[in-house]
Amino acid sequence: MKRTLIVAGTLLLGAGAVMAQQEIAVQQDNLMRSQAKSLYNIMLKMAKGDIHYNQKSVDEALTTLEADVGKIAKTFETNPKQDVVNATYGSSPKVWQQKADFDSKISPVQKAIAEAKGKIHDVASLKAAYTVINDRCNDCHETYRLKLK
Ligand code: HEC
Repeated sequence: MKRTLIVAGTLLLGAGAVMAQQEIAVQQDNLMRSQAKSLYNIMLKMAKGDIHYNQKSVDEALTTLEADVGKIAKTFETNPKQDVVNATYGSSPKVWQQKADFDSKISPVQKAIAEAKGKIHDVASLKAAYTVINDRCNDCHETYRLKLK
């Protein structure tokens, strides 16, 4: 009886840890998706003319993006040791093997955003800013993001 209880308890603890790890992976993924919303769904689409240029939307996207990027280091502090279920992209183990180098890829993105602020006023300047910011995002992805499918 006692033994059964212990086994059941251990199983429960195990399930809890798995849930928590999946939650961490989801939080990391959600942060990246939120960044993609600002950069791709708003800025890129406007730069390509898929949606009309709108100054307020551009300014808001940049502000949201800046806040999100500022959360990367902390959000990726813990290695969830698993990918989000069914995700297209996952984190390379290298993120946590060399976290300082991973973190060093964040400030160039922040710098590109800071430099774009107040300088985007039409499609041409939006395109230029998009390219610079996106290059910095990809600079981290090249090393630390894995394509899963
Ligand atoms: C310091 C490293 C780093 C920087 C900077 C970074 N990313 Fe990521 N990104 C990752 C890692 C690691 C993953 C894979 C894990 C994940 O999806 O959470 C990822 C995944 C993604 C994904 C795929 C999400 C999915 O599963 O569909 C998108 C989209 C994305 N990033 C957008 C961006 C954008 C936009 C920027 C720049 C504003 C950016 N990232 C900056 C590390 C970074």
